[in-house]
Amino acid sequence: MKVTVLVGSQWGDEGKGKIVDLLSEKYDIVTRYQGGANAGHTVVIADKQYILHLIPSGILRENVICVIGNGVVIDPNALLEEIELLKKNNIEVDGRLYISQNAHLIMPYHKLLDSINESGNNKIGTTGRGIGPCYIDKYARKGIKIVDLLNRKSLEEKIRQNLEEKNNLLKKVYEREVLDVEEIIKEYVEFDKTIDKYIKDVPLFLNQAISEGKSILLEGAQGALLDIDFGTYPFVTSSNPVSGGACTGSGIPPNKITDVIGIVKAYTTRVGHGPFPTELLDEQGEQLRKTGAEYGATTGRPRRCGWFDAFLLKYSVMINGIDSVAITKLDVLSDFEEIKVCVGYSINGKTLKSFPNDSDGLSSAKTVYETLPGWKTGISDCKSYSELPQKTKDYLNFIAKAGGFKIDIVSVGPKRSQTFFVN
Ligand code: GDP
Ligand code: IMO
Ligand code: MG
Repeated sequence: MKVTVLVGSQWGDEGKGKIVDLLSEKYDIVTRYQGGANAGHTVVIADKQYILHLIPSGILRENVICVIGNGVVIDPNALLEEIELLKKNNIEVDGRLYISQNAHLIMPYHKLLDSINESGNNKIGTTGRGIGPCYIDKYARKGIKIVDLLNRKSLEEKIRQNLEEKNNLLKKVYEREVLDVEEIIKEYVEFDKTIDKYIKDVPLFLNQAISEGKSILLEGAQGALLDIDFGTYPFVTSSNPVSGGACTGSGIPPNKITDVIGIVKAYTTRVGHGPFPTELLDEQGEQLRKTGAEYGATTGRPRRCGWFDAFLLKYSVMINGIDSVAITKLDVLSDFEEIKVCVGYSINGKTLKSFPNDSDGLSSAKTVYETLPGWKTGISDCKSYSELPQKTKDYLNFIAKAGGFKIDIVSVGPKRSQTFFVN
């Protein structure tokens, strides 16, 4: 019986969707514990590509139950679109998807405020999905939760109260048009009709499942360096993608977690603003973007690309408690003559002992690189670790040692079949 947390170890888009899909064959339940439709998790089955934003990537395995935990913020439109898309592809959702009654709802004003914030001087480069403003309301204790949909009168009251404040803000501070309260009430009442059947007491459901010996995979969104507490603040998302967030975002207690898997891209990418020490602003960065198809699965924005950062990984391994790693997109490095790996940072000539996770510290850090020879041969058809070229194995051994982790899974392409276990 396993209760495994799967986390993004860098700045998101490490290939979590692919590995969740792969591993979920061996799990009974897959649960999302934070974030919202800012996530874009890609799964490729045969030649069909699915991009999941809110529903756990386990939905593509017919025997798996999928759960959206209380830590997730739910955009009704995004959820309904996703359910529709799955149904169109003959993937059964009813009876296989449960949503926590304590998850918060993204409201139209959250998306509007997200875009207004991004049009000012303090841009984060958000996905524009209303994530930050929704979590603000959650912590300000003004949020509207899934459970509120069940009581029409109190739902209306809550929407009216919120709208009064938000419309004041829109009109007086931002000089924007106000939102129509009746329209919003209508939209959310309508949403309730569709979503009722999915609502569940998730902590009870998951803990009962554990006591019955079922196994659970907790699917993180984003990545450790985008964590509100441990990431490169303020250039982060507004939730806790780190493994610790899996407990508070699902209702599974810490002593029930059995292991933590880190998803690690063989190089580094980041979308949006913020420091990125190993970023390549030259043709090598362009090569990574082109070969790795590094364009956002949610927004389509080009991802910033750079070399592997083992110093960052050491930090990520520490805060997440990563037991084992799945390395993804190793094939993308196949054409490089030489490959660099960042093994440390210095500031003003002084070698740093620990990772500076504050934005200013990280911006002034200089990278220390080791250079490894490239393997210059395609590896996408390799079916086992032993088939990899020696130089590829050397690269894996090097990053594992420098980053302080153990590699158990290697991915050499987007398909399920392009993956193998190391032992
Ligand atoms: P996630 O947000 O962590 O689930 O990752 P994304 O889906 O946003 O981005 C990962 C992208 O890389 C997707 O387009 C995947 O299909 C693709 N991908 C995953 N693993 C591999 C791999 O090993 N090699 C290559 N070339 N592509 C991969
Ligand atoms: P997955 O789960 C990569 C980034 C945004 C921005 C910052 C804040 O697919 O790995 P937000 O909309 O969350 O307020 O934006 O976080 N970001 C992601 N980057 N992958 C993601 O998700 C991301 N979700 C948010 O680009 O820099
Ligand atoms: Mg993604």
